[in-house]
Amino acid sequence: MSERIGVLFVCLGNICRSPLAEGTFRAHVEAAGLGEHFEIDSAGTGGYHAGEGPDPRSVAEARKNGLDISGQRARKLVAADLDRFAYVVVMDDSNRRNTLRLARTPAQAARVSRLLDEVHGGPSEVPDPYYGGPDGFTHVWNLVDDATGALLKRIRAARGI
Ligand code: 4NP
Repeated sequence: MSERIGVLFVCLGNICRSPLAEGTFRAHVEAAGLGEHFEIDSAGTGGYHAGEGPDPRSVAEARKNGLDISGQRARKLVAADLDRFAYVVVMDDSNRRNTLRLARTPAQAARVSRLLDEVHGGPSEVPDPYYGGPDGFTHVWNLVDDATGALLKRIRAARGI
């Protein structure tokens, strides 16, 4: 098989939103039987939570939907991620600005996209649920589950898989 397609999900802390996006994208990939085609990961533009597992509220939301994301560990985004991953998918505009700061070439910058641009007619940013209640996590789940499904469709069409 040719080289794996790298897909990296990025938020601020890498404990709430991007772990859910990593989880739902992986679930869509596995449901399609395409696991061996992809390298999937997530990272945060901030390193405050590096080494920690996902927020317990994200773990609970995923579990409620049949996914175990508890084994993930947070890490900080690094410039090399813009070479390693063909798709660097951010949750909001602040993440996009902070991610683009690391880009040194137009090709690296072109790898950065906003997750909710995969779907039309809804919000353009995945809201940060960190300071809210559990409803915020259900809302994030619904947004990222739908949008990561659409992202996979786009990648499959682009790559012919
Ligand atoms: P995330 O949420 O970016 O979706 O992981 C946050 C997690 C932690 C913090 C902010 C946002 N924090 O400030 O510690």
